[in-house]
Amino acid sequence: MMLSQRIQANLKPSPMFDFMSRAISNPYHPSANPNGIISLGIAENSLMAQSLATFLSQNLRIPPGLFSYGASCPGLASLYQGLCKLYNGETFDPAVEVENAHLYVTAGCTTLLDQIFWTLCDKGDGVLIGRPCYGGFVPDMSVRSGCVPILVSLKGIDPFSEDAVVRYEEDLLEAQKRGVKVRMLVLCTPHNPLGQYLTNGFRCANGRCYPRETMVEFMKLCQKYQIHLLSDEIYALTTFATRDIPNPTPFTSLLSIDKVGIIDPSLCHVIHGLSKVSPFPIHEIILGFLLQWHSSVHVDISSQSRLFKSYQHNSVYLYPTYLMSRMFSWPSSMAGLVLSTILNHPTYLTDFLKQNRKLLVDRYTLCTNILKAHSIAYMPSNAGFFLWADLSPSMAIYEGTPLEQERALNKRLFEGGVHLATSEAFQGEEYGWFRISFSVDENVLELGLKR
Ligand SMILES: Cc1ncc(COP(=O)(O)O)c(C=O)c1O
Repeated sequence: MMLSQRIQANLKPSPMFDFMSRAISNPYHPSANPNGIISLGIAENSLMAQSLATFLSQNLRIPPGLFSYGASCPGLASLYQGLCKLYNGETFDPAVEVENAHLYVTAGCTTLLDQIFWTLCDKGDGVLIGRPCYGGFVPDMSVRSGCVPILVSLKGIDPFSEDAVVRYEEDLLEAQKRGVKVRMLVLCTPHNPLGQYLTNGFRCANGRCYPRETMVEFMKLCQKYQIHLLSDEIYALTTFATRDIPNPTPFTSLLSIDKVGIIDPSLCHVIHGLSKVSPFPIHEIILGFLLQWHSSVHVDISSQSRLFKSYQHNSVYLYPTYLMSRMFSWPSSMAGLVLSTILNHPTYLTDFLKQNRKLLVDRYTLCTNILKAHSIAYMPSNAGFFLWADLSPSMAIYEGTPLEQERALNKRLFEGGVHLATSEAFQGEEYGWFRISFSVDENVLELGLKR
């Protein structure tokens, strides 16, 4: 079969996706599939599935107007109302009030990331990102947009510190020398999978959100070189304190920092989605939100229809709103309705987040107790629903390079019925580290770790 030239670069195995898709297609179930794979390798949270199912069964009301294109894009007015309430609340604490015009809704953050790279960068442009990083960032920036990831080594230093910013600048200058035009810097806060290293005796005690001072340094760097700063804040609502980190660094949204005198606001972009707060990663319910300030991208609209003009909200907001490619990522109106039902309920989301945090702490404690009992080192975590554990002592029995040893250990774990996310999939600098997602039923977690 003839395929396009474009797709050729896409036809190689993905260290993240291969095992993930095999795990998803043979899921463990205590009675229906006891020999299936227990996946502790996917960033999903099923702890509140029952609560959500009950709430939605009782509260979802489907208006006939839902079955129209307009209810999908630009989307339900009630969804925008709920989102503004969320983003103007205490977690994101924006320096400038978030309005409808700041929001761009897509069918999930993956789609949104792809759109952002495609819109803001040209093929061959460099994108700075610290190691390790969420395994999806590299394909999201490279598969369609053709951006070149510049993976910044943070080995031996605190990746959340102002010192780390210097490493990004060094790599930017290095890339420029090679003729690569750097267009963007990507941060993930709270961080996935947890960029901390135990090497050289270094241990970061502060958890996994970038402190405000570090965020400001990143903003200054981006201003200095006139590059975009993308802050992926998808885990913003799942921060928690544990006995390992009783007083974690509080989450600071890029939205909350006043840009005046630091950075041109049009260089700042924040993404968030609800797929990590709850068991929403079913395709129909994934939504992603781009929150951005005034875009300096000016498009000549003088010849365009009044409809286009009216979309533009003073012609400076949300340049992607009127891109034709927006149609490729229109969200489902049903997903919008589900979210607006949750967001606009007077108490549900607050209670949901409280209970979610309680369960996350519970599972974190269970998971770390088991790791400690087996003398497995791990990075303490205080956000998301996973931690980064060092299984490198167990790979010493395998032949080959550290990467080959990690692959052999991963294969062995999979054959034993458990799926974890590897360092390779997350652009890690030290092989043998695995990300363990603990946001599952406690019996399943215990059995998975036993396996
Ligand atoms: C940091 C980060 N950004 C984006 C995504 C993708 O989000 P979505 O499920 O909304 O496509 C993920 C998913 O794991 C993630 O961890």
